[in-house]
Amino acid sequence: MTDAIRPLIAGNWKMNGLKAAAAEFDAMLNGAAEVAGKADLLVCPPATLIAAFADKAHGKKVAVGAQDCHPKASGAHTGDIAAEMLADAGATAIIVGHSERRADHGESDALIRQKAEAVWRAGAVAIVCIGETQAQRDAGQTLDIVRGQLNGSLPDGSTAANLVVAYEPVWAIGTGLTPTSEDVEQIHGFIRELLTSRFKADGVAMRILYGGSVKPSNAAELMAVKNVNGALVGGASLKAADFLAIAKGCP
Ligand code: PGA
Repeated sequence: MTDAIRPLIAGNWKMNGLKAAAAEFDAMLNGAAEVAGKADLLVCPPATLIAAFADKAHGKKVAVGAQDCHPKASGAHTGDIAAEMLADAGATAIIVGHSERRADHGESDALIRQKAEAVWRAGAVAIVCIGETQAQRDAGQTLDIVRGQLNGSLPDGSTAANLVVAYEPVWAIGTGLTPTSEDVEQIHGFIRELLTSRFKADGVAMRILYGGSVKPSNAAELMAVKNVNGALVGGASLKAADFLAIAKGCP
């Protein structure tokens, strides 16, 4: 049943990209039609580039998203950006709860849940990130961490249309390390069970992305794993050729 889920390849540019990066994004737009049969494509550049990229992407096969938002719609929150502002700039999806935000900004599951609700309020899709650290993995706590973060970060009312889960083991992010296919299958299967028991048919149809050192050379193997419905890609999403090659690796 989950085999029918259309993959999503989402690029997370993190704090990378000046205006000149538009050329790389143009290359992604130009190559997108060729891989459109394989997967939906989403690029989440820094907030400063969203409006320009969204204008370029209009009518093309790449959607534009954002990397974080504030839970409130407006107010006295210097330096923060509301989901409504990101949607107004052209973002159709917003990542929340990335491990770098959990670590660098001490974001809790409760805050991430509020942010996911803010994303919906703005009419966008929430991509909620979860994943264990190396220490938690070594202590045999992976499934407990995954369960706790899913329970705490996903709001009631999550559907296959408004929410995407991204499983990103923290130790695999930016390290070149990846879990084995067997590990990914086990953890994604566990996530699927939890989603199905809580959200019923929506949990069956919800996308579960894998993230952490996805690159062209390992994409096909990872994307073929049961219950892997695409990828959240960091470093390799900065280059059009790599990003498109990862999408080509989808089954
Ligand atoms: P990476 O990052 O692909 O560079 O490992 C993934 C992510 O943090 O989303």
